[in-house]
Amino acid sequence: MSPASLSVISGAVTVRVPAKINLHLGVGPLRDDGYHDLVTIFQALSLYDDVTVARSAATTVTMSRSGGRGADTESVPLDENNLAVRAARALGEHVGRDPRVSIDIVKRIPVAGGMAGGSADAAGALVALAALWKLDISRAEILELAAGLGSDVPFSVQGGTALGTGRGEQLMPVLARGELHWVLALAREGLSTPKVFAELDRLRENRADEYSGANPRPDALVQALAGGRPQEIAPLLHNDLQPAALSLQPALRRTLRAGIDAGALGGIVSGSGPTCAFLCSGAEDAVAVAAELSGAGVARSVRTAAGPVPGATRKPPEE
Ligand code: C5P
Repeated sequence: MSPASLSVISGAVTVRVPAKINLHLGVGPLRDDGYHDLVTIFQALSLYDDVTVARSAATTVTMSRSGGRGADTESVPLDENNLAVRAARALGEHVGRDPRVSIDIVKRIPVAGGMAGGSADAAGALVALAALWKLDISRAEILELAAGLGSDVPFSVQGGTALGTGRGEQLMPVLARGELHWVLALAREGLSTPKVFAELDRLRENRADEYSGANPRPDALVQALAGGRPQEIAPLLHNDLQPAALSLQPALRRTLRAGIDAGALGGIVSGSGPTCAFLCSGAEDAVAVAAELSGAGVARSVRTAAGPVPGATRKPPEE
Protein backbone atom coordinates (compact mmCIF):
# COMPACT_ATOMS: atom_id res chain seq x y z
CA MET A 1 0.00 0.00 0.00
CA SER A 2 1.41 3.43 -0.86
CA PRO A 3 2.08 5.96 1.93
CA ALA A 4 -0.62 8.21 0.40
CA SER A 5 -3.39 5.60 0.66
CA LEU A 6 -2.11 4.65 4.11
CA SER A 7 -2.49 8.23 5.26
CA VAL A 8 -6.14 8.40 4.22
CA ILE A 9 -7.00 5.23 6.13
CA SER A 10 -5.02 5.60 9.32
CA GLY A 11 -4.15 9.27 9.72
CA ALA A 12 -0.52 8.59 8.84
CA VAL A 13 1.69 11.61 8.26
CA THR A 14 4.31 11.87 5.50
CA VAL A 15 7.17 14.35 5.58
CA ARG A 16 9.49 15.06 2.67
CA VAL A 17 13.12 15.77 3.61
CA PRO A 18 15.87 17.08 1.32
CA ALA A 19 19.47 15.94 0.86
CA LYS A 20 22.24 18.42 1.64
CA ILE A 21 25.56 19.31 0.15
CA ASN A 22 28.28 21.46 1.72
CA LEU A 23 29.31 24.35 -0.52
CA HIS A 24 32.05 25.11 2.01
CA LEU A 25 33.36 22.77 4.68
CA GLY A 26 36.15 24.06 6.92
CA VAL A 27 37.27 21.50 9.51
CA GLY A 28 39.09 22.55 12.69
CA PRO A 29 41.28 20.29 14.84
CA LEU A 30 39.94 17.20 16.63
CA ARG A 31 38.18 18.17 19.90
CA ASP A 32 38.33 16.26 23.19
CA ASP A 33 34.79 14.93 22.59
CA GLY A 34 35.78 13.24 19.29
CA TYR A 35 34.15 15.88 17.08
CA HIS A 36 35.71 18.64 14.98
CA ASP A 37 34.66 22.28 15.01
CA LEU A 38 33.22 23.10 11.62
CA VAL A 39 32.50 26.20 9.61
CA THR A 40 30.24 25.07 6.82
CA ILE A 41 27.72 26.36 4.31
CA PHE A 42 24.94 23.85 3.77
CA GLN A 43 22.50 23.87 0.89
CA ALA A 44 19.39 21.66 0.73
CA LEU A 45 18.78 20.08 -2.70
CA SER A 46 15.70 18.73 -4.50
CA LEU A 47 16.51 15.07 -3.84
CA TYR A 48 14.21 13.78 -1.12
CA ASP A 49 13.47 10.95 1.27
CA ASP A 50 9.81 10.52 2.29
CA VAL A 51 9.21 9.52 5.91
CA THR A 52 5.72 8.26 6.82
CA VAL A 53 4.72 7.63 10.44
CA ALA A 54 1.55 6.02 11.81
CA ARG A 55 0.34 4.68 15.16
CA SER A 56 1.27 1.06 15.59
CA ALA A 57 1.35 -1.77 18.17
CA ALA A 58 5.15 -1.86 17.98
CA THR A 59 7.94 0.39 16.76
CA THR A 60 8.91 -0.73 13.28
CA VAL A 61 10.89 0.78 10.44
CA THR A 62 10.95 -0.16 6.76
CA MET A 63 13.01 1.27 3.96
CA SER A 64 12.29 1.04 0.25
CA ARG A 65 13.35 2.52 -3.03
CA SER A 66 10.94 2.72 -5.90
CA GLY A 67 11.46 -0.76 -7.37
CA GLY A 68 12.53 -2.44 -4.11
CA ARG A 69 15.23 -2.11 -1.46
CA GLY A 70 18.39 -1.14 -3.37
CA ALA A 71 21.87 -2.48 -2.73
CA ASP A 72 22.93 0.49 -0.66
CA THR A 73 19.86 0.43 1.61
CA GLU A 74 20.84 -3.10 2.74
CA SER A 75 23.50 -1.57 5.01
CA VAL A 76 21.00 0.59 6.96
CA PRO A 77 20.03 -0.95 10.31
CA LEU A 78 16.26 -1.52 10.71
CA ASP A 79 16.39 -1.84 14.50
CA GLU A 80 16.90 0.41 17.53
CA ASN A 81 20.03 1.83 15.88
CA ASN A 82 18.09 3.30 12.97
CA LEU A 83 18.33 7.08 13.26
CA ALA A 84 14.59 7.56 12.61
CA VAL A 85 13.75 5.11 15.42
CA ARG A 86 16.14 6.96 17.72
CA ALA A 87 14.39 10.20 16.74
CA ALA A 88 10.98 8.70 17.65
CA ARG A 89 12.32 7.55 21.03
CA ALA A 90 13.94 10.93 21.74
CA LEU A 91 10.75 12.85 20.91
CA GLY A 92 8.57 10.38 22.85
CA GLU A 93 10.78 10.75 25.90
CA HIS A 94 10.85 14.54 25.58
CA VAL A 95 7.05 14.88 25.58
CA GLY A 96 6.24 11.79 27.72
CA ARG A 97 4.50 9.79 24.97
CA ASP A 98 4.60 6.14 24.05
CA PRO A 99 6.82 6.14 20.95
CA ARG A 100 5.29 3.01 19.37
CA VAL A 101 4.89 3.94 15.70
CA SER A 102 5.57 2.50 12.29
CA ILE A 103 8.12 4.45 10.27
CA ASP A 104 8.23 3.85 6.52
CA ILE A 105 11.02 5.50 4.57
CA VAL A 106 11.14 5.89 0.80
CA LYS A 107 14.85 6.42 0.19
CA ARG A 108 16.23 8.46 -2.67
CA ILE A 109 19.18 10.10 -0.88
CA PRO A 110 22.28 7.88 -1.23
CA VAL A 111 23.25 5.89 1.86
CA ALA A 112 26.70 6.79 3.29
CA GLY A 113 26.97 9.35 0.48
CA GLY A 114 27.89 12.56 2.31
CA MET A 115 24.41 13.99 1.70
CA ALA A 116 22.91 13.56 5.20
CA GLY A 117 20.64 10.67 4.20
CA GLY A 118 20.43 9.23 7.73
CA SER A 119 20.01 12.71 9.20
CA ALA A 120 17.16 13.38 6.76
CA ASP A 121 15.28 10.33 8.07
CA ALA A 122 15.76 11.46 11.69
CA ALA A 123 14.56 14.97 10.81
CA GLY A 124 11.59 13.51 8.92
CA ALA A 125 10.62 11.32 11.86
CA LEU A 126 10.77 14.27 14.30
CA VAL A 127 8.64 16.56 12.15
CA ALA A 128 6.18 13.82 11.14
CA LEU A 129 5.65 12.63 14.71
CA ALA A 130 5.17 16.17 16.00
CA ALA A 131 2.32 16.42 13.46
CA LEU A 132 0.91 12.92 14.11
CA TRP A 133 0.82 13.54 17.86
CA LYS A 134 -0.39 17.14 17.30
CA LEU A 135 2.32 18.39 19.64
CA ASP A 136 2.54 21.95 20.81
CA ILE A 137 6.30 22.02 20.40
CA SER A 138 8.49 24.93 19.34
CA ARG A 139 10.89 24.91 16.40
CA ALA A 140 13.71 25.53 18.89
CA GLU A 141 12.82 22.35 20.84
CA ILE A 142 12.73 20.30 17.62
CA LEU A 143 16.12 21.71 16.60
CA GLU A 144 17.59 20.89 20.02
CA LEU A 145 16.35 17.30 19.85
CA ALA A 146 17.67 17.15 16.27
CA ALA A 147 21.16 18.26 17.40
CA GLY A 148 21.18 15.46 19.97
CA LEU A 149 20.63 12.91 17.19
CA GLY A 150 23.41 14.04 14.84
CA SER A 151 25.36 17.07 13.67
CA ASP A 152 23.47 17.40 10.35
CA VAL A 153 19.95 16.71 11.65
CA PRO A 154 19.09 20.36 12.52
CA PHE A 155 19.94 21.41 8.96
CA SER A 156 17.77 18.61 7.54
CA VAL A 157 14.88 20.09 9.57
CA GLN A 158 15.65 23.65 8.52
CA GLY A 159 16.78 23.39 4.87
CA GLY A 160 17.51 26.36 2.60
CA THR A 161 21.07 27.65 2.65
CA ALA A 162 22.72 28.06 6.06
CA LEU A 163 25.99 28.69 7.83
CA GLY A 164 26.70 25.85 10.26
CA THR A 165 29.15 26.16 13.18
CA GLY A 166 30.01 24.08 16.24
CA ARG A 167 29.65 20.43 15.15
CA GLY A 168 27.58 21.83 12.27
CA GLU A 169 24.44 21.95 14.39
CA GLN A 170 24.40 25.70 15.11
CA LEU A 171 22.69 27.33 12.13
CA MET A 172 22.27 30.78 10.67
CA PRO A 173 20.36 31.30 7.42
CA VAL A 174 22.45 32.57 4.49
CA LEU A 175 20.94 34.66 1.71
CA ALA A 176 21.26 32.83 -1.60
CA ARG A 177 19.76 34.63 -4.58
CA GLY A 178 18.07 32.53 -7.24
CA GLU A 179 18.37 28.83 -7.84
CA LEU A 180 21.57 26.83 -8.30
CA HIS A 181 21.62 23.80 -10.61
CA TRP A 182 23.67 20.80 -9.62
CA VAL A 183 24.65 17.45 -11.06
CA LEU A 184 25.24 14.70 -8.50
CA ALA A 185 27.49 11.72 -9.20
CA LEU A 186 26.55 8.89 -6.82
CA ALA A 187 29.37 6.47 -6.09
CA ARG A 188 29.19 2.68 -6.12
CA GLU A 189 30.57 2.31 -2.56
CA GLY A 190 29.72 4.53 0.42
CA LEU A 191 32.16 6.18 2.85
CA SER A 192 31.83 6.16 6.64
CA THR A 193 31.79 9.72 8.04
CA PRO A 194 33.90 8.93 11.17
CA LYS A 195 36.47 7.17 8.97
CA VAL A 196 36.79 10.18 6.67
CA PHE A 197 37.27 12.56 9.62
CA ALA A 198 39.85 10.13 11.08
CA GLU A 199 41.65 10.01 7.72
CA LEU A 200 41.85 13.82 7.70
CA ASP A 201 43.36 13.74 11.22
CA ARG A 202 45.89 11.16 10.00
CA LEU A 203 46.81 13.21 6.92
CA ARG A 204 47.18 16.32 9.05
CA GLU A 205 49.43 14.52 11.51
CA ASN A 206 51.66 13.00 8.84
CA ARG A 207 51.75 15.86 6.37
CA ALA A 208 51.02 18.94 8.44
CA ASP A 209 52.44 21.26 5.77
CA GLU A 210 49.91 20.12 3.17
CA TYR A 211 46.82 19.63 5.32
CA SER A 212 46.97 22.38 7.93
CA GLY A 213 44.04 22.66 10.34
CA ALA A 214 43.27 26.07 8.85
CA ASN A 215 39.46 25.89 8.96
CA PRO A 216 39.18 28.83 6.51
CA ARG A 217 36.25 31.25 6.55
CA PRO A 218 33.66 31.24 3.80
CA ASP A 219 33.17 35.03 3.62
CA ALA A 220 33.78 35.32 -0.13
CA LEU A 221 31.36 32.45 -0.80
CA VAL A 222 28.66 34.07 1.37
CA GLN A 223 29.00 37.23 -0.73
CA ALA A 224 28.89 35.29 -4.00
CA LEU A 225 25.75 33.42 -2.85
CA ALA A 226 24.02 36.75 -2.24
CA GLY A 227 24.93 37.72 -5.81
CA GLY A 228 23.53 34.47 -7.17
CA ARG A 229 25.94 34.09 -10.12
CA PRO A 230 27.06 30.45 -10.43
CA GLN A 231 30.20 31.50 -12.32
CA GLU A 232 31.32 33.43 -9.21
CA ILE A 233 30.23 30.74 -6.76
CA ALA A 234 31.92 27.79 -8.51
CA PRO A 235 35.58 28.72 -7.85
CA LEU A 236 34.77 29.28 -4.14
CA LEU A 237 33.46 25.76 -3.45
CA HIS A 238 35.73 24.29 -0.75
CA ASN A 239 35.88 21.08 1.26
CA ASP A 240 38.62 20.33 3.83
CA LEU A 241 37.39 16.70 3.92
CA GLN A 242 37.95 16.23 0.20
CA PRO A 243 41.64 15.12 0.45
CA ALA A 244 40.58 12.53 3.06
CA ALA A 245 37.73 11.22 0.89
CA LEU A 246 40.11 11.07 -2.13
CA SER A 247 42.69 9.25 -0.05
CA LEU A 248 40.10 6.57 0.84
CA GLN A 249 38.54 6.44 -2.64
CA PRO A 250 41.19 7.56 -5.17
CA ALA A 251 38.80 6.88 -8.08
CA LEU A 252 36.88 10.02 -7.07
CA ARG A 253 39.62 12.12 -8.69
CA ARG A 254 38.48 10.72 -12.04
CA THR A 255 34.84 11.52 -11.21
CA LEU A 256 35.73 15.12 -10.33
CA ARG A 257 37.72 15.52 -13.55
CA ALA A 258 34.95 13.95 -15.63
CA GLY A 259 32.40 16.46 -14.30
CA ILE A 260 34.57 19.42 -15.28
CA ASP A 261 35.32 17.82 -18.67
CA ALA A 262 31.55 17.42 -19.13
CA GLY A 263 31.14 21.19 -18.79
CA ALA A 264 30.41 21.86 -15.10
CA LEU A 265 31.61 25.19 -13.66
CA GLY A 266 33.05 23.53 -10.56
CA GLY A 267 32.95 20.24 -8.68
CA ILE A 268 33.42 19.13 -5.11
CA VAL A 269 33.10 16.06 -2.92
CA SER A 270 29.92 16.53 -0.87
CA GLY A 271 30.63 16.49 2.89
CA SER A 272 32.47 13.29 3.80
CA GLY A 273 31.69 11.89 0.33
CA PRO A 274 31.75 9.98 -1.84
CA THR A 275 28.96 11.79 -3.75
CA CYS A 276 30.44 14.48 -6.01
CA ALA A 277 28.41 17.65 -6.66
CA PHE A 278 28.95 19.74 -9.80
CA LEU A 279 27.67 23.29 -10.16
CA CYS A 280 26.30 24.18 -13.60
CA SER A 281 25.34 27.50 -15.15
CA GLY A 282 21.64 26.65 -15.52
CA ALA A 283 19.00 23.91 -15.65
CA GLU A 284 19.62 23.00 -19.29
CA ASP A 285 23.36 22.91 -18.78
CA ALA A 286 22.89 20.59 -15.82
CA VAL A 287 20.91 18.14 -17.98
CA ALA A 288 23.67 18.20 -20.63
CA VAL A 289 26.44 17.72 -18.03
CA ALA A 290 24.50 14.86 -16.42
CA ALA A 291 24.09 13.10 -19.79
CA GLU A 292 27.79 13.45 -20.59
CA LEU A 293 28.84 12.34 -17.11
CA SER A 294 26.57 9.28 -17.27
CA GLY A 295 28.34 8.28 -20.47
CA ALA A 296 31.76 8.58 -18.80
CA GLY A 297 30.95 5.57 -16.60
CA VAL A 298 32.54 7.04 -13.45
CA ALA A 299 29.47 6.85 -11.18
CA ARG A 300 26.78 4.39 -10.05
CA SER A 301 24.17 6.93 -11.11
CA VAL A 302 23.99 10.57 -12.07
CA ARG A 303 21.15 12.96 -11.37
CA THR A 304 20.32 16.64 -11.44
CA ALA A 305 19.04 18.63 -8.46
CA ALA A 306 18.35 22.27 -7.68
CA GLY A 307 18.84 24.24 -4.48
CA PRO A 308 18.03 25.76 -2.14
CA VAL A 309 14.80 23.97 -1.15
CA PRO A 310 12.95 24.00 2.19
CA GLY A 311 13.76 21.53 4.99
CA ALA A 312 11.52 18.76 6.33
CA THR A 313 7.98 19.56 5.12
CA ARG A 314 4.68 17.74 5.60
CA LYS A 315 3.19 16.38 2.38
CA PRO A 316 -0.54 16.87 1.87
CA PRO A 317 -2.31 13.48 2.35
CA GLU A 318 -3.65 13.40 -1.24
CA GLU A 319 -0.17 13.74 -2.84
O1 C5P B 1 27.08 13.93 14.52
P1 C5P B 1 27.16 12.66 13.75
O2 C5P B 1 26.71 11.46 14.55
O3 C5P B 1 26.51 12.71 12.42
O4 C5P B 1 28.71 12.43 13.45
C1 C5P B 1 29.21 11.22 12.99
C2 C5P B 1 30.71 11.18 13.20
O5 C5P B 1 31.36 12.11 12.33
C3 C5P B 1 31.17 11.56 14.59
O6 C5P B 1 31.17 10.46 15.46
C4 C5P B 1 32.58 12.07 14.33
O7 C5P B 1 33.47 10.98 14.17
C5 C5P B 1 32.46 12.73 12.97
N1 C5P B 1 32.21 14.19 13.09
C6 C5P B 1 33.24 15.01 13.49
N2 C5P B 1 33.02 16.35 13.63
C7 C5P B 1 31.81 16.88 13.33
C8 C5P B 1 30.74 16.05 12.90
C9 C5P B 1 30.97 14.71 12.78
O8 C5P B 1 34.35 14.52 13.76
N3 C5P B 1 31.64 18.18 13.45
